[in-house]
Amino acid sequence: MNVPASSPERSPQSPVRHFLTLRDLSRDELLQLIARASELKRLRGQPAHPKPLAGMSVGILLEKSSTRTRISFEVGVFELGGLPITLKPGDIQLGRGETIEDSARMFSRFLHAVVFRTSTHERLTRLAQFSSVPVINGLCDLHHPTQLLADLQTVQENLGHLEGVRVVWVGDGNNMAHSWIEAASLLGFDLTVVCPVGYEPNQAIVQAAQQSARGTVRVLTGAGAIDDACRDADVITTDVWVSMGQEGESGERNAVFTDFTVTAARMKRAKPNAVFLHCLPAHRGEEVAADVIDGPRSRVWDEAENRLHSQKALLELLLSRP
Ligand code: CP
Ligand code: NVA
Repeated sequence: MNVPASSPERSPQSPVRHFLTLRDLSRDELLQLIARASELKRLRGQPAHPKPLAGMSVGILLEKSSTRTRISFEVGVFELGGLPITLKPGDIQLGRGETIEDSARMFSRFLHAVVFRTSTHERLTRLAQFSSVPVINGLCDLHHPTQLLADLQTVQENLGHLEGVRVVWVGDGNNMAHSWIEAASLLGFDLTVVCPVGYEPNQAIVQAAQQSARGTVRVLTGAGAIDDACRDADVITTDVWVSMGQEGESGERNAVFTDFTVTAARMKRAKPNAVFLHCLPAHRGEEVAADVIDGPRSRVWDEAENRLHSQKALLELLLSRP
């Protein structure tokens, strides 16, 4: 997302590029980024590994818990030659009422980019509007685009291609589902989302994807649709039934989603070389059976590791000097 022209901190000479949703990349940029991520994976630990962030500092502002996002960005910035600074709201004045706009102005004077994990997309865009350095969405209520970079890299590495793959999302129409929907429309693959009635993905995000010329995005409701959807899938993926911030709904959600577990029987309906993905953290026995996530088709640990490589490629893209 480009900063609106009215952004007070924007210099007309150096327009800033944010990564708030996958749609902030073109199809070609996304494909190049995935290829670069695999190259950086091969170069890891070697003298030829680039250090384009030398002299740069990246803030990682986390208003929600994180294991993978925090560690992969901290290690990634370090390995690119930069300084990562993790910030929690309780440690900085933002947590005591300094406005998000003023915080953005301050970050822009000290940092070269900010990764922001927050509760709402509105809060994320406010930070971006007042930031003159790139803001990267480290997860909000609507999207989780850095996770999708890793997921797409994992699919590419396992299946050898992205175009035309058949992906099935089983479960909540949440932030991860939205980012999969955007990926399908950008790259032209076939995505079927199966969710309970009342837990469908955001209609505007689905419609935008369906209006794009590429790929197919289909939303089905009811657990009865899962078995058919899984037939001949290349990728089956899911996420927790209760996302961060929804803890108060856990009783109701656990009841509604009870038949939405990715089981070994459902995995068997997919193609023989199909893979299972999950952004993690996982709850065995809820959204996924233990013998699936710990089974031979699971690629969840590679997927988590690919956060590191794909985010390095993203940082390189956003911060490399012209
Ligand atoms: N998948 C993911 O974003 O994990 P964390 O919440 O641990 O960062
Ligand atoms: N949908 C989950 C993803 C966690 C990485 C959440 O928002 O909590």
